[in-house]
Amino acid sequence: MPQHITLVVRRAIPDGPGTRRLVLQDPDGWPLPRWKPGAHLDIHVPGIGHRAYSMCGDTARADTWEIAVKRETTSRGGSAWVHDVLNEGDVVAASMPRCTFPIADGAARHVMVAGGIGVTPFLAMAHEFERRRAEWALHVLSRGEPPCATALAGCAQTGRIRVYDTTKMARPSWDALLDGGPAPGLHSYCCGPQAMLDGFEEATGNWPAGTTSIEHFVPPTLPAAEGAKAYTLCRSTTRGEMEVEPGGSMLAALWELGAKVDASCEGGICGACEVRWLEGEPIHRDRVLTPERRRTHLLACVAQCSSERLVVET
Ligand code: FES
Repeated sequence: MPQHITLVVRRAIPDGPGTRRLVLQDPDGWPLPRWKPGAHLDIHVPGIGHRAYSMCGDTARADTWEIAVKRETTSRGGSAWVHDVLNEGDVVAASMPRCTFPIADGAARHVMVAGGIGVTPFLAMAHEFERRRAEWALHVLSRGEPPCATALAGCAQTGRIRVYDTTKMARPSWDALLDGGPAPGLHSYCCGPQAMLDGFEEATGNWPAGTTSIEHFVPPTLPAAEGAKAYTLCRSTTRGEMEVEPGGSMLAALWELGAKVDASCEGGICGACEVRWLEGEPIHRDRVLTPERRRTHLLACVAQCSSERLVVET
């Protein structure tokens, strides 16, 4: 994590089954940089690497940042460390907040569907929508008590949050969850387990482009890199070059060339490894960049190339 800030865990709050909410502060109490709802932090987990967690506090608070972490049975080590090792008063290294799941500013109405711990980015959005006096609704599907139950209760007075305990009631239809959309001005968001994201994508398949947003927890299966070729990767600053085989990692090649490129998920969902490209024909396989952004940038952990040469700005 080349650029990081140091934070102290001011509070570690049990908040729902198997969920710990961390309140983070600057060790000397200085105000923290501003961030946007939908942002996440990469936390450095000693001996393991970086793990990305959605920020769930209120962007209006400059004194604290918050994340919530559910203990995962299939944990790659990050959630177990947060639950078993980290204590109040401990210091952690974190990236600056990075937003790959932004609020659709042009929409008039916002419908959010969360599965379990997928509620975290929507807690931050809910605060922002209330400030904007926007039209919004949040549907939380959970088996039993939802993660971040206390934080959700804090927004209950809005009357815009509905929690569905799917151990006690039938799962609502997508049509009901999505407010009968598509409709002019309506934007829908989903964050949850892969099966829920698949259902959301299927249910919104006929929505106009740019009216839906998804946040992945874990990298999905990568699409095939059709047309991928062996290519020469070139850094614009040093003119260093390296041959990359089809299917080879552009990120690893950049590191080998001495480029300082961040990484976290290494699966095309967090945006940490974004670099600008200047020449060539990259094949984008990420789930983050907009078509417009792809004209100038790529995510090196998953991108391939269909031209003989690719020049990136590093
Ligand atoms: S490291 Fe997460 S998108 Fe590349």
